Amino acid sequence: MRTIKLGTSSLDVPVIAVGCMRLSSLDKAGAERFIRTAMEEGANFFDHADIYSGGKCEELFADAIQMNPAIREQMIIQSKCGIRKGMFDFSKEHILESVDGILQRLRTDYLDVLLLHRPDALVEPEEVAEAFDKLEASGKVRHFGVSNQNPLQIQLLKKAVKQPIVANQLQLSITNATMISSGFNVNMENESAVNRDGYVLDYCRLNDITIQPWSPFQYGFFKGVFLDNPEFPELNGKINEIAAKYEVSNTTIAIAWLLRHPANMQPVTGTMNIERLKDCCRASDIRLTREEWYDIFRAAGNVLP
Ligand SMILES: NC(=O)c1ccc[n+]([C@@H]2O[C@H](COP(=O)([O-])OP(=O)(O)OC[C@H]3O[C@@H](n4cnc5c(N)ncnc54)[C@H](OP(=O)(O)O)[C@@H]3O)[C@@H](O)[C@H]2O)c1
Repeated sequence: MRTIKLGTSSLDVPVIAVGCMRLSSLDKAGAERFIRTAMEEGANFFDHADIYSGGKCEELFADAIQMNPAIREQMIIQSKCGIRKGMFDFSKEHILESVDGILQRLRTDYLDVLLLHRPDALVEPEEVAEAFDKLEASGKVRHFGVSNQNPLQIQLLKKAVKQPIVANQLQLSITNATMISSGFNVNMENESAVNRDGYVLDYCRLNDITIQPWSPFQYGFFKGVFLDNPEFPELNGKINEIAAKYEVSNTTIAIAWLLRHPANMQPVTGTMNIERLKDCCRASDIRLTREEWYDIFRAAGNVLP
């Protein structure tokens, strides 16, 4: 498995992050098989959040793998906090409380990475900074990042937060690629020119913040998977043609498309199917040509100006 540095840190991470949002759909034996396979594939970076199945995903993860210090050292664990029922909460108390809960459920003393899950309108950067300082000083969190944040929201945090923001986890797939398409349509009148994210892709590249695309196989907001979906005939035709050329599955090509982008992204997969997970990992070895990358982009319905 190819690795990249996470943001400006010296932490080497596999290019595929294993998302654990759907882990509680497995039983304990299935979860153990899944986690062990991921690690055998070199995909030892696991993405959690305090809210996934109300904490059950983190609990099952630790339980299934019989978490102990030796296993813990072989993994890189990321979790997120800041979403509460009916609100977002980046208060110092909530961040600290949430991390304690995460550590307890994962049966570990530290998180490699903590992300703030979704922007809080009532954020006070100084409070976040105090929480991060405390978590860093106590050794509970080693690296910090954000999710679903635009450049100015990150800049606002940076007014007070001294730790580097190493990652920004954002929704991105072949069929949800507005952060890429808006870059082709600068200052034009068409719909693709609408910039919905404050140039987050360029900002993350300029500031060496690793983009972690979430839901790499979904279209819309959890509307379904675009692969093998009759609503996307042209896209599937093109992906299947390229998959046949490389003798891999369409799943591999969908991840390879994200990895081909020079921003050095780290897609977060969501599958709980072991064969699909292996297919995602295979993308690490594939480098699509420029022509293939653009062919897939256009086959998804994107029109170049
Ligand atoms: N930061 C955020 O706001 C945020 C939001 C959402 C998710 N996330 C993170 O991102 C991860 C991925 O999200 P996601 O689960 O929505 O992503 P996804 O990988 O796009 O979707 C996975 C789902 O699609 C299904 N699927 C069906 N056919 C598939 C195929 N050919 N290839 C791959 N999957 C296929 C999977 O089923 P099978 O299990 O049967 O394969 C699974 O239910 C989550 O686990 C979580 O860690 C973050």
